[in-house]
Amino acid sequence: MAGRFPRQWLEELRARADIVQIVSGYVPLKKNGGRWWGLCPFHGEKTASFSVNPDRQLYYCFGCKACGSVIDFVMNIEHLEFADAVKRLADQLHIPLPEMQEDPDWQKKRSQRERLLAANREAAQFYHRQLYAPEGEAALNYLKGRGLTDSVIRKFGLGAAASRRDALYRSLLEAGYTEEEQALAGLVKVYPADEEKGLPRTVRDMFHSRAMFPIIDQYGNVLGFGGRKLNSEDNGPKYLNTADTPVFNKRLGVFAANLLRKERALQRVILVEGYMDVVALTQFGVRGVCATLGTALTPEQALLLKRFAPTVYLAYDGDSAGQHAILRGLEVLEKAGVPARVLDFPDGLDPDEFMRQRGMEAFQSLPVLTPAAYRLRRAAAQQDLSTQEGRSALAREGAKIIAQLDPVEREERLRELTLQTGFSSETLLEQARSELPALQREEKRQQAAEQRSQLRAAPHSTAAPTERQRAEEMMISLLASSQLPKDIATEDDFSDPLLRSLYGALQGDATPSDLVESQATEQDKERVARLLFTQPGESVDEQLAMVEDCLNTLRRQRVEDRLSAVRERLKDLTGEEKAQALKEAAELTEELKRLRIR
Ligand code: UTP
Ligand code: MN
Repeated sequence: MAGRFPRQWLEELRARADIVQIVSGYVPLKKNGGRWWGLCPFHGEKTASFSVNPDRQLYYCFGCKACGSVIDFVMNIEHLEFADAVKRLADQLHIPLPEMQEDPDWQKKRSQRERLLAANREAAQFYHRQLYAPEGEAALNYLKGRGLTDSVIRKFGLGAAASRRDALYRSLLEAGYTEEEQALAGLVKVYPADEEKGLPRTVRDMFHSRAMFPIIDQYGNVLGFGGRKLNSEDNGPKYLNTADTPVFNKRLGVFAANLLRKERALQRVILVEGYMDVVALTQFGVRGVCATLGTALTPEQALLLKRFAPTVYLAYDGDSAGQHAILRGLEVLEKAGVPARVLDFPDGLDPDEFMRQRGMEAFQSLPVLTPAAYRLRRAAAQQDLSTQEGRSALAREGAKIIAQLDPVEREERLRELTLQTGFSSETLLEQARSELPALQREEKRQQAAEQRSQLRAAPHSTAAPTERQRAEEMMISLLASSQLPKDIATEDDFSDPLLRSLYGALQGDATPSDLVESQATEQDKERVARLLFTQPGESVDEQLAMVEDCLNTLRRQRVEDRLSAVRERLKDLTGEEKAQALKEAAELTEELKRLRIR
């Protein structure tokens, strides 16, 4: 959409769209203190850790860290982009849509991100064109050799990085992207001149002689690439992935999110390990397939997947690494409250191999295992069931697994376990019951540990990284309250760039919602929401006292830093310079004393 909503209009929308009221439409909330609490709609939970702050007009989940303004809430719960979420809210509140505006400041802030995304898009188009050009012949033969059709190649926008090492670089230069932008996007690598070896400065494409898989997010942005080498004898890893850039973090996204978003009424997402697995299953007509990007499943990815479908199927490779990754993946999904199932591929096959060798029908008749069924299967595979010792060991291991199940699933699993171990279901149940107290203790211990880490994440915490950082964060929390004089601190009091920019923004008339919405990455967003969510101190006097305390800490730290720098310098100085430095050190020591007394 061209332009953006006028600021004032958005402010009015936010004011009318009271966050408590909007959230209540989805989640029952109860008031406690100045805040509202409920069960988080973004991760499954039994105790309320989802909270709404009506003064700041923000929500924050202490469990899964989902956070944001009323607009973020609508975006996340309805899976909408910003502009569409705004329109939906306006519609709901019968507020007419405004004329869209051009805003140079906003453009500037957005522009780096947009330039990098545009460069990536241009690169994806370039690679795709190359695939069907003479330079791309080897890559095209490779993909065709792996059974891909032109239609699926087009669907994923696959491409070729040819063997020339500056083909993309030159093409993007021509299209107006600077060397710096290309390097920032991770598309090229700059090698400085080496005078000793007489080598000039060179710029090289990051990818060459590879088949290219563009990584596209749910909004259609090209975030980065995976490139597969064409011959096993070629140098380098089998898959080379774009390193993290200002627009790409491989822990946050999944491959093929763009296709997930297009699917309607998806009942499950199928998560596989590899790019090729996604492409192959999709080619055979399986919907809703995606892959993590060469890393183990993260909590952020688990929550992302949950936005697309109610259940996640883990369909990792049938080799031992894949099997191990399933156990870890199940834990991540369970922690994030995402219901999970497992597709277990036989004979060490990966999904791509399985599909090509055995076909869609075999794929569709693979058993869909619950987490417990899968764990039992694994436990059984680790024992020699032809011996009594093995059967007893499985009975004990299995009892731990079934102890935590609901009665219906427990009975299903019991049936299998009696067959495998020869023990009666009474014995197995008794064994399960005897495991329960220990399991409950373990669960309590874990809950307590989690609560501790939640407390640490709160701005009042005493265990945040450093005293200085804590003081800086507390300052921001305090300054976001409208009652304090804004010029009470200076920009120099902040060493953390994000906090410094927040301070600057708070000098203007930015609201907490503005600040949270305008963060480019999920991590920054979460950090800002967390800081702005809680108002430390009740009365203005109390807040003022806390500000003074923080400022004192920050200024003391600055003096301490300068003092240690001077002391460091002293070691190499002599004569007049040394005398000068000594004097400076004495002055700083004095100042430090004064600050300590205050
Ligand atoms: P696999 O080696 O199992 O991939 O790695 P695959 O898809 O089966 O590979 P081929 O093409 O069929 O032989 C699984 C995933 O792990 C990541 C990639 O995302 C890959 O798709 N990976 C693997 C890397 O990032 N780098 C590597 O060197 C290897
Ligand atoms: Mn494979």
